[in-house]
Amino acid sequence: MAKKQLRIGLIGYGFMGRAHSNAYAKVGHFFDSDHEIVLQAVCARDLEKVKVFAARWGYKSVETDWRKLIARDDIDVVDIAVPNNLHAEIAIAAAKAGKMILCEKPLAMSPKEAEKMVAAVEKAKVANMVWYNYRRCPAVVLGKQLIDEGRLGRVFHYRANFLQDWTINPDLPQGGAALWRLDVKAAGSGVTGDLLAHCIDTALWLNGGIKDVTAMTETFVKERKHTLTGKVEKVGIDDACAFLCHFNNGSLGLFESTRYARGHKALYTLEVNGEHASFRWDLHDLHRLQWFDHGNEGRLRGWNSIHVSDSDHPYLKNWWVPGLQIGYEHSFVHQVADFLQGLDTGKAALPNFRDGLATDYVVDAVLNSAKSGRWTKVKQVKQGK
Ligand SMILES: NC(=O)c1ccc[n+]([C@@H]2O[C@H](COP(=O)([O-])OP(=O)(O)OC[C@H]3O[C@@H](n4cnc5c(N)ncnc54)[C@H](O)[C@@H]3O)[C@@H](O)[C@H]2O)c1
Repeated sequence: MAKKQLRIGLIGYGFMGRAHSNAYAKVGHFFDSDHEIVLQAVCARDLEKVKVFAARWGYKSVETDWRKLIARDDIDVVDIAVPNNLHAEIAIAAAKAGKMILCEKPLAMSPKEAEKMVAAVEKAKVANMVWYNYRRCPAVVLGKQLIDEGRLGRVFHYRANFLQDWTINPDLPQGGAALWRLDVKAAGSGVTGDLLAHCIDTALWLNGGIKDVTAMTETFVKERKHTLTGKVEKVGIDDACAFLCHFNNGSLGLFESTRYARGHKALYTLEVNGEHASFRWDLHDLHRLQWFDHGNEGRLRGWNSIHVSDSDHPYLKNWWVPGLQIGYEHSFVHQVADFLQGLDTGKAALPNFRDGLATDYVVDAVLNSAKSGRWTKVKQVKQGK
């Protein structure tokens, strides 16, 4: 049977534009689907540069205005890989045009925007997904399986960190290409919406909803030159954030993120402690799951380092032989594979825009709590399973 073509229109060709394009290129070689990805068009503002990108990655055509891309009849999926301040406008227009949407995280700049995005995709009944790719690291999925099998029992603690060190230099400007993350008008927030959003999404998936939070944030460098205006301007983002929370299941959460932890580049770690067992995971060693099972015989009880590379581990049967590991980019390949499988089976892959909204509600509560100094309730949303 001929495969159904799925024609992609990618908007943005930076870091994520490359990660997504690589996933589209690889997925059909490793995963079965009734659908076939076609790299139909890529859109960015600089015509010469976008032509070079299209030639390198195999896109058939280019656009320099995302509205034109969305208006095209030969695009089935709009992939949003641009800074956060553009997500809502593009996604809502794409939904109105009846396109499926793959949107980068965080879903939006605020819950208000995210709610409109959810309403738009639900009204248009179009497939939608948010690129929270860490849900697709095999070792993290193994952790999810162990929780769902009841091997941890009651969960007491959830702990996550996301630590970086790239903004310590006060001479680093804010705004514009590459530095839009330091400009609150383009990013919405700092580490909370950028890095903790990942930790929150994984936590909601592994451990369920968050009830309330108490947070602190800090902006260590208060003013930076703005690349676009050339003027020294106030910095509106949070450079660091730490928060405590109660999960709806009664467990306690502790989260920390910063771009001022000298020596750490992308240290995303998480740990879950249950009544029978615990596990921890570390992005710098992403193919391993550290596992402690109190049910083991006392003399042999200890932390096991599971090398998640065997064919009975999540996704791994599609790759190499046991013992050979895969890496960061594969999480995006897995996300596309799951999206295609969702289209094949009619059981949509997650996280969808509703799940993205759930994370945005937590981000918002964290930022509000940091401002008020008070425990703050998190607005609840019905999530996907
Ligand atoms: N899932 C993840 O792990 C992950 C990692 C990094 C970034 N992100 C998210 O992906 C998005 C993009 O981040 P990035 O790191 O790729 O940024 P980037 O700066 O590397 O790339 C952004 C791209 O958007 C383009 N762009 C900006 N305005 C545009 C417009 N009006 N029309 C068309 N193109 C435009 C820029 O030219 C650039 O190519 C952000 O929302 C970010 O939070 C997610």
